[in-house]
Amino acid sequence: MTQPPAKSIPPCWASLNRFNPRAAYDHVVDFSVYVERAWRDKGVGRRLLDRLIELARECRYHKMVLSALASNQAGIALYTRAGFARVGVYREMGRLDDQWVDTLIMEKLL
Ligand SMILES: CC(C)(COP(=O)(O)OP(=O)(O)OC[C@H]1O[C@@H](n2cnc3c(N)ncnc32)[C@H](O)[C@@H]1OP(=O)(O)O)[C@@H](O)C(=O)NCCC(=O)NCCS
Repeated sequence: MTQPPAKSIPPCWASLNRFNPRAAYDHVVDFSVYVERAWRDKGVGRRLLDRLIELARECRYHKMVLSALASNQAGIALYTRAGFARVGVYREMGRLDDQWVDTLIMEKLL
C-alpha cells in the first residue's frame, strides 16, 4: 500500500521565553523565532510569530518584548509587520565579529 507523502515541515523553531524572573514582570514575555536559511522569505517566520502572539494571549501575558540586532532587517520587518513598535536602542549591547553592536528594543501590548 502506498503512503501519502509526508507533509513537509520547514526547519524552524520559535519559543516564548520568560522576560525576567522578578514577579513584577510576570506579565511580560520575550520570544525567539528562527527559520532555516533556505526557507526564509516564504512566510514561515510570519506564521510562527502569529502563533506565538496567539499563545502569549492564551497564556494571558500583557506584553511581548524583544531585542534584535539593529542590523537584522528581516527580523525588524517581521516584527514591525506584526504590530511591534520601536521602544529604543541599547547602544553597544552585543559583540559580533569582535565589534560592539546596537540592539533595537521593540514591544507589543497584547
Ligand atoms: C527573522 C526570520 C525569523 C524571518 O523569517 P522569514 O520566514 O524569512 O520571514 P517571512 O518570510 O515570514 O517574512 C516576514 C516579513 O519580513 C520581510 N522580510 C523577510 N526577509 C527580509 C529581509 N532580508 N529584508 C527585509 N525584509 C524581509 C518579508 O518581506 C515579510 O514582510 P511582508 O509580509 O510585508 O512581505 C528569519 O530571517 C531568521 O530566522 N533569521 C535568523 C534568526 C533571527 O534573526 N531571528 C530573530 C532574532 S531577533
